[in-house]
Amino acid sequence: MTREFFNYIDGKWIPAASGETLASHNPATGELIGAVPASDARDVARAVTAAANAFEKWRKTPAPRRAEIIHAVADLVRARKQTLGELLTREMGKVLPEALGDVQEAVDMGMYMAGEGRRLNGLLVPSELPNKWAMAVRDPLGVVGLITPWNFPIAVPSWKIFPALLTGNTIVWKPAEDTPVLAVEFVKIFEEAGLPPGVLNLVTGYGVPAGAALVEHPQVKMISFTGSNEIGKQIAVRGAQLGKRVSLELGGKNAIIVLDDADLDLALDGIIWSAFGTSGQRCTATSRVIVTPEIHSELAERVADRASKLRLGNGLLPTTDVGPLINRDAVDKVHQYTELGVSEGAALLVGGARGVEGDLAQGHFYKPTVFDRVTPTMRLAQEEIFGPSLAILRAHDIDEAIRLNNGVNFGLSASIYTSNVNKAFEAMRDLTTGIVYINAGTIGSEVQLPFGGTRGTGNGHREGGGPPVLDAFTEWKSIYVDYSGKLQRAQIDTDALVQ
Ligand code: NAI
Ligand code: MG
Repeated sequence: MTREFFNYIDGKWIPAASGETLASHNPATGELIGAVPASDARDVARAVTAAANAFEKWRKTPAPRRAEIIHAVADLVRARKQTLGELLTREMGKVLPEALGDVQEAVDMGMYMAGEGRRLNGLLVPSELPNKWAMAVRDPLGVVGLITPWNFPIAVPSWKIFPALLTGNTIVWKPAEDTPVLAVEFVKIFEEAGLPPGVLNLVTGYGVPAGAALVEHPQVKMISFTGSNEIGKQIAVRGAQLGKRVSLELGGKNAIIVLDDADLDLALDGIIWSAFGTSGQRCTATSRVIVTPEIHSELAERVADRASKLRLGNGLLPTTDVGPLINRDAVDKVHQYTELGVSEGAALLVGGARGVEGDLAQGHFYKPTVFDRVTPTMRLAQEEIFGPSLAILRAHDIDEAIRLNNGVNFGLSASIYTSNVNKAFEAMRDLTTGIVYINAGTIGSEVQLPFGGTRGTGNGHREGGGPPVLDAFTEWKSIYVDYSGKLQRAQIDTDALVQ
């Protein structure tokens, strides 16, 4: 029997106005996980009204009190980590240890934001005039719309929901259509932790009409979006027309640079983990290795060998290294890049085919794929593939390697393996991505630091953590308090003071 789930609007679990549903399947087995509302603009409108009505009371709830609820959510997520992790593997496909990490990220972000409840610093600075105070505080935006992808079904929403709530906003969340049941389970925890009705609303459904209706709704002040470049740009354009703030995180074409002096065993571990973890479906996944001549052939050979030994399968099995891709379209997309790479003249070392042997035939599997002799202008070296496909490029030296890293239309994450401390610092100075790793792969950010990138990866905002995440969800308000009891003119009466 199909398990049916509902939207969460104004503290109630309700079906879509249309009564339509969409089904969520396990990408490894085809198993039906459940059915959720296929919402449209009517459901979004209801949710936005609920969020707007809840806003006044929530914004006036003291931040430490808001933080206590977030703390309670984090505790509940931690207590349910195993159950949520298993559901995450079933609905999204990533192997269980990674699924548990996805859930842990929400615990970490919850704890970090809960602590922020008693900090949430503004600014207090001296005034240029006597008997006057100058300070600035953070105001919430109002109703914010969150649109999230399927690749981190708990972690990415937690990066948005916790800071948005902590800073006093109310929320309408449209999760990815591929992982809606996890969204329902996550929201249930907020309800259980005592979040007041209307503060967090969940509307499941497709990008069009549900996500698009959220973007269009006049009472939604801001859209925080993580997903594809194509849709992100569309939302930015529409947001500009409607006068909304839009915070974007749109993926990457991340590279690991390996210099001649690197510890090759260490680099190899970093490459395999970063390229094929989550089947390459991370915005920070390594999709390019840029290697200097002396070690090029040895590294290429060893990467291909390790990739060929990765075991595809159901992520719940301890024998599985790499799980399925999210859906049939994703497999087709990765395979198109394989065909493109071959036609562009790159050398296919390993993989390049769907996984169809035995039980794999029931799911959306693709074999870990490695191309060598990729040149910088090939599309294979420029475009986001979002799958287990790795391109190896050659650079003569560190300068060329950094140029290649920076020469793509994404700027999320980059890494360099070297044992030379001077070169490491050069790379830290010259790599123009939002995240840089030294002697570690391109994945594995922590919530205490900003997450996001340059160029086509985003539009200047940072989410995921660190104090800058608060900027995405707040408006600064500068406040001057004059207790002199007379007119004091800034920039004008200041001269008299120094005579
Ligand atoms: P997508 O960008 O279409 O979907 C992301 C979210 O946006 C989902 O919740 C979706 O329902 C919503 N959406 C789609 N169209 C919309 C619209 N017109 N208005 C408002 N919301 C809309 O990504 P998709 O189709 O799941 O994956 C396609 C490609 O996007 C991937 O192959 C990958 O290259 C990239 N991607 C990047 C991610 C990242 O981490 N930055 C995450 C997911 C996908
Ligand atoms: Mg799409």
